[in-house]
Amino acid sequence: MNYAKITGWGKCIPPAKLSNDDLSTVVDTNDEWIKTRTGISERRISHVSTAELATVAAQQALDCAGINGDEIDLVLLATCSPSTLVANTASLVQKNLNATGAAACDVNAACSGFLYALQNATAQINAGMIKKAVIIGAERMTWYVNWSKRDSAVLFGDGAGAVVIEASEEKSGLLASKTGCDTSNRDILHITNFGTDINKYDQPVGPSDLLFEGREVFKRAVKGMAEACDDVLEQANLALDDINVLIPHQANLRIIQAIQQKLSVSDDKVMVNIQNYGNTSAATIPIAICEAVEQGLIQSNSKIMSAAFGAGLTWAASYIQWSDRITPIKISNATLPDCDKTGLELINQAVLACKN
Ligand code: UT7
Repeated sequence: MNYAKITGWGKCIPPAKLSNDDLSTVVDTNDEWIKTRTGISERRISHVSTAELATVAAQQALDCAGINGDEIDLVLLATCSPSTLVANTASLVQKNLNATGAAACDVNAACSGFLYALQNATAQINAGMIKKAVIIGAERMTWYVNWSKRDSAVLFGDGAGAVVIEASEEKSGLLASKTGCDTSNRDILHITNFGTDINKYDQPVGPSDLLFEGREVFKRAVKGMAEACDDVLEQANLALDDINVLIPHQANLRIIQAIQQKLSVSDDKVMVNIQNYGNTSAATIPIAICEAVEQGLIQSNSKIMSAAFGAGLTWAASYIQWSDRITPIKISNATLPDCDKTGLELINQAVLACKN
């Protein structure tokens, strides 16, 4: 059996912050409401494309693994905010990484995308089809935001994270996984004015918007993620007590707490960073993995449960066995170009457009 050991991890956090107080200058909201109802204090606004965010996160993961791009067989990029649709965004990341021998593909399962991609790449390694892959979650979700709508404008942020997996005989990496999609009510979370459903010959196309029925998504997210975790534990023949770290999708602190309660997991085992970044969709899990290592929550041989849900409604849960190493082989100097604007300055034109 070829296992798919995680040998590298990296993240890319764009520097420009948009605080709740900043947001309350553009839309009718306030810090207290946002913090109490969502747990979010600030989010990042990217000054670069999704491909650039993805490239930095992936290069950091390659350096962490101590390998070069030309050793990689597959670049899988989970995103629902691609830089370009054709050519796919993964192909540009492949080029940027000098991974010219690698297959390159975008995966869109919205917020569950990273766990879907990790499952796909792991299966290819398990089957002996490939040896090394980089899996990235990268999003520029604020590109879609309608800054005049307070219910959605407060929730999203930009960023990227990545892991490198390599074929290994050591029993580690993604060891059990369950993915699915509840399509009974797929319209309760979607982006408008995007895609070939639009009859562009008859109707003018307005700005995109993130539409969702918050309470309904909330309920389904808690139920879906908790059930998926139970399934995966059964598959892996483990009990919840065996799990050292829970890494849930970061969409709302109250959703995280509800899952934690359903699964009876103590606070010290749960990775939470939503306060800093908001919901970065497919990027939340790989960013949280990196920060869990940085903060010492993930330790040598940790047993990790991760769960996500997103538009579709897609859902996924994964049991990951970490390996011995919790430090990078090489400290990466991959970084974004400087940004000379604040978050508010970056969104200024988009805010004006939304008001018109
Ligand atoms: O992952 C993709 C998208 N994520 C989700 O859809 C996440 C799932 N849902 C949620 O996280 C929560 O449902 C939300 C954070 C979106 C909303 O929280 P809620 O506790 O379900 O609030 P609500 O929608 O029931 O609204 C409660 C009140 C309303 O006022 P009234 O009608 O009670 O007077 C809203 O108008 O809060 C008001 N409100 C706000 N007030 C200040 C809604 N958004 C805001 C805001 N600032 N940003």
